[in-house]
Amino acid sequence: MVTMVGLEKNFIDALKDLIELEYDAVEAYKAAIDRLESKQYKDKMGEFLKDHERHIREFSNVLKKHNEEAPQGPDMSKHWLAEGKVVLAGLIGDKAILTAMKTNEDDTNTAYERLNNFSDMWKDSEDFLKEALKDERRHRAWIESAIS
Ligand SMILES: [Fe+2]
Ligand SMILES: [Fe+2]
Repeated sequence: MVTMVGLEKNFIDALKDLIELEYDAVEAYKAAIDRLESKQYKDKMGEFLKDHERHIREFSNVLKKHNEEAPQGPDMSKHWLAEGKVVLAGLIGDKAILTAMKTNEDDTNTAYERLNNFSDMWKDSEDFLKEALKDERRHRAWIESAIS
């Protein structure tokens, strides 16, 4: 299923859901890194994990500047990612793991594309959103080439 993040009515709700999606992504990355065999893959996924953690910090700060509360962690009742940490924890084999993570990066790419096109987007989040979309595109492209 394609993520619902970015289909909210207003930008604040979308940004909050985006942060929850990022927390889900961090959990999925940690599960993937735990299970990957290849050191090269582990290292690269560790880099991407740090990007996701930085996205959480950046967008949480933006919300705080606007006197809005940022989510503090993943929302267990919502599944923003197609292949969450539970799925990842049950996979065996680097190719299967990377394929699941590629699906997750499809979701993060979709979410950031939508956020970048929000009509009531805050001016002070424009650069962050543009850069984050570039990061997500880079993540997906790397995973795609690794499994091809
Ligand atoms: Fe991210
Ligand atoms: Fe990513």
